[in-house]
Formats: sequence, C-alpha cells, structure tokens
Amino acid sequence: MTEQRRYEGRTALVFGAGSDGEGWSNGKAAAVQYAREGANVLAVDMRRSAAEETREIIAGEGGTCIAVVANAIDGSEVQSAVQGCLDGFGAIDVLHNNVGIGEMGGPVETSLESWNRVLDVNMKSVLLTTKYVLPVMERQGKGAIVNISSIAAIRWSGVSYVGYYASKAGVNQMSRVIAGQYAAKGIRCNAIMPGLIDTPQTYKNLADQYGDGGGASMAEARRQQVPMKKLGSAWDIAKAAAFLNSDEAKFITGTVLTVDGGMSCSMVAPPPKAA
Ligand SMILES: NC(=O)c1ccc[n+]([C@@H]2O[C@H](COP(=O)([O-])OP(=O)(O)OC[C@H]3O[C@@H](n4cnc5c(N)ncnc54)[C@H](O)[C@@H]3O)[C@@H](O)[C@H]2O)c1
Repeated sequence: MTEQRRYEGRTALVFGAGSDGEGWSNGKAAAVQYAREGANVLAVDMRRSAAEETREIIAGEGGTCIAVVANAIDGSEVQSAVQGCLDGFGAIDVLHNNVGIGEMGGPVETSLESWNRVLDVNMKSVLLTTKYVLPVMERQGKGAIVNISSIAAIRWSGVSYVGYYASKAGVNQMSRVIAGQYAAKGIRCNAIMPGLIDTPQTYKNLADQYGDGGGASMAEARRQQVPMKKLGSAWDIAKAAAFLNSDEAKFITGTVLTVDGGMSCSMVAPPPKAA
C-alpha cells in the first residue's frame, strides 16, 4: 500500500524513538511512519544505538532524520533536543511522546524509589517535553502533540504495577489539560491508549508475569486476553498517531484514542499470575 504524504515539509520530534530490543517498538515505528509520510524527523532516545538505528532506517528509506541522545526526564537535555530540532529543521510541527516504563508491584511491594522513577519517566517526560515545545508551537501558531498512554490508565489488566496504572491515568489528563489550554492557539494535544501490543520490551519486562515465564506462552496468554484474539503491532499505534497529528484530525483535540482490539470493552481480562 502506498503511504500517504500528510507530513510533507513538516517536522516531527519523537521522544523514545528507539526500540528496547530487536524489532519494532511503538516509538521506532512512529518515527519511521512520520518519515514515510514526508516528515523530517528528530529521533530522540537516551541510548545512542537506539536513536542511531532509527535514523539509519529512515535514511535507508530515503527520508531525513537527525538522531539525538537525551534523557526525557532531564530538563536541560530535553531543552537541547528541542533546540536541536529547531536548528536542524527550523520548526516543530509534531511532538510525539513515546517514553514510558513499568515496574512490577502493587502498593505493598512498590518502593518509593520505584514509584518516583515510574511517575518521573511516564509523566515528567510529558511535562518537560511540552514545557519546551509548547512555546515553539505557540510562536508558530500551530502544532500537534500525541502522548502515548495505555489502557492501563482506565482498566486493571491483571498485571500488578500500580505506578504504571497511575502514571498513565496522569498522561491522559495532562493531554486533556494541554488541549484545553492551547486549543485557541492552534495547538492540538491527544493521547493514545494502546492495549496489548507485540513489542520487544514486553518480552523483557512482562514474560515472568504469565504462564511458564517464557516469551511464547506470554504472547499466547496475551492474545487470549484480546477479544480479536491477536496482539496489536507497533504500526497500529504509529498509524493512529500519524492520523491524530495530521490535518485530517484538525478538529480533534483532548481526545484519548483507544487502540486495543476491543480489550477495554470486554468484561474479562484475567490471565497473569497476579491475584
Ligand atoms: N507494548 C505494549 O504492549 C504497550 C501497551 C500500552 C502502552 N505502551 C506504551 O508504549 C510506549 C513504549 O513502547 P515501546 O514499545 O516503544 O517501548 P520501548 O521500551 O522499546 O521504548 C522506546 C524507547 O524509549 C527509550 N527511553 C526509555 N526511557 C527513556 C528516557 N527517559 N528518555 C529517552 N528515551 C527513553 C528506550 O531507550 C527505547 O529505545 C510506552 O509509553 C508504553 O507505556 C506499550
């Protein structure tokens, strides 16, 4: 299928644009999707190899990408990345916030260090990136933002990680609040709640929560949780974001789009080991 070219002449700034493992993560797919549709992409990741890999894929397909190393919860590094985007491409039309982590444990098991880390990475990253990008978009009189949340923001999935659920609920509300404050300034902000997506990091971080602890049994258990009986792919999330940040969605702001194969409308969630 030929890609649309909705981003011709535009710039997309993607935080968490690499992949934590071989294959397609949500952030890497989003960066490549924007580029395939014509965008100049600034790919930010805290790991140089991850940012570079995304840059190489985009360059290999004939697109334009600058790779930048920055930690999305370090204010001065975020500021430098934003400036790097302006220096390299002269504008920021799209901000895509993909950075997010989960650490296991309910309220009893979660240490304060873990709680603070998860809330920092998942919410402070949105605070800092929007802190430095919104003034740029305001000067431009336009811009669009997508924050990657999770259906964990609104549902119990069976995996016990209280900080993840809480922080993703925060991402949803931050997205609505930014949308409300900046709507009259030509800036839109939306969130996407992915359901169960088949990305490399899930095999590292979630496998021991399911069945025999192996990646294959985890993937099968997760498939069975989804009414469509399949996992989503990183491209399902990338394409939803490419729609929301495009002019096709010009009257959509403050929405939280669920991309989950029907999981959040189901009464059943169970598998994982957590009671
Ligand atoms: N895979 C799923 O099933 C699923 C479901 C719901 C939501 N999500 C959300 O999707 C997003 C990530 O998905 P992914 O598959 O791209 O994950 P990923 O773990 O592969 O992350 C992408 C990149 O983010 C980078 N990163 C992590 N912390 C960073 C930081 N502080 N600063 C800069 N870069 C950082 C990593 O190095 C990695 O290359 C998260 O927000 C996650 O909560 C995933």
